[in-house]
Amino acid sequence: MKDLFDKIYRDKGPLGKWASQAEGYFVFPKLEGEISNRMKFQGKEVITWSINDYLGLANHPEVRKVDAQAGADYGSAYPMGARMMSGHTDMHEKLQTELADFVDKEAAYLLNFGYQGMVSTIDALVAKDDIIVYDVDAHACIIDGVRLHMGKRFTYKHNDIESLEKNLERATKMAEQTGGGILVISEGVFGMRGEQGRLKEIVALKEKFNFRFFVDDAHGFGTQGKTGAGTGEEQGVQDGIDVYFATFAKALASTGAFIAADKEIIDYLKYNLRSQMFAKSLQMQLVVGALKRLDMLKNMPELKNKLWENTNALQSGLRKRGFDIGTTQSCVTPVYLKGSIPEAMALVRDLRENYGIFCSIVVYPVIPKGLILLRLIPTATHTLEDVNETLDAFDAIRERLENGTYKRLSASVAAAMEN
Ligand SMILES: Cc1ncc(COP(=O)(O)O)c(C=O)c1O
Repeated sequence: MKDLFDKIYRDKGPLGKWASQAEGYFVFPKLEGEISNRMKFQGKEVITWSINDYLGLANHPEVRKVDAQAGADYGSAYPMGARMMSGHTDMHEKLQTELADFVDKEAAYLLNFGYQGMVSTIDALVAKDDIIVYDVDAHACIIDGVRLHMGKRFTYKHNDIESLEKNLERATKMAEQTGGGILVISEGVFGMRGEQGRLKEIVALKEKFNFRFFVDDAHGFGTQGKTGAGTGEEQGVQDGIDVYFATFAKALASTGAFIAADKEIIDYLKYNLRSQMFAKSLQMQLVVGALKRLDMLKNMPELKNKLWENTNALQSGLRKRGFDIGTTQSCVTPVYLKGSIPEAMALVRDLRENYGIFCSIVVYPVIPKGLILLRLIPTATHTLEDVNETLDAFDAIRERLENGTYKRLSASVAAAMEN
């Protein structure tokens, strides 16, 4: 009989197999210093384009002050226990009311983490006879939520309304047999490529099909819409979203998340969300901190304006210089280049070591073979100087990619590793 751990000793998994070459540099890098546009990587200053601190709240002096005071007032334990048992407070309720008001829903409920909250909300919304239809490019937390579902599920092609319609037809036929309902799930903003989910067109399909719509707006909350209330506001269809989700881990620069919906739906979820019923309540320091951040999001529009000024400067600069930034409709800024994985590694090393630019890199199997995706996340803390320095660096690395410098460099690294 096999030892359970055999597979672990044999192979660390699709990402883990790169550990010896990538760990500490391409994965698990240590960014040091205060969270801002410039941080330290391996002792050197880098312009940071890989942190979702969209509004620059992470290290804002007012936020730091409130976080510190809340730490002094409550410590990190309070309240103890799950919300249902002993971990409920006025402040949790206050934050929920303010969040619900802000995203224009009747009620909201707090989640300890976005990821497990999404998994749990999907789990609570569907029964065995229900059918889930979701975008194939969905975030891992949606995929994991769907994995818990005991009934049928269909994916539709990414942001493809025709494909969604076809799958809704299939789902409708199936639901008529099972006697269940249909849940459609999309992201508000897709975090990898930056496209907005086609929420308006999806909501319009409610005229033709009977379904409920759940939106994960992790990247849209605080960045999209006139007031920052998210992608539903941006597209004018917040009403058509039945359950709205956002995390505090991006624009609010904290930990925690929430769902918002009609009161009756939230009342149901609060008694059925296993991740909240059987886990400790969101700690008070985070609740107080989120109230402060939400207040700043509502009352300091200059933060979102600065974010978009930087986003526009970065995206138009890249386009003007002939870079392919795909079809982004958000602050998420992907730059697509052509090259192999070893070339991508040499290129990123050059960017970090010689140009002081730190951004995330995505390669096959996440995107098609032969493509390199550099992902830049602008924030309100960046300056136009950061943008211009980055644009010049990108010109330089593109030239070196095209003239074969990285191919030569990666070949010599590969040869050295073999010897
Ligand atoms: C689309 C999306 N949903 C959910 C999450 C999870 O949020 P959290 O970090 O609060 O667990 C993320 C964060 O990476 C995300 O990008």
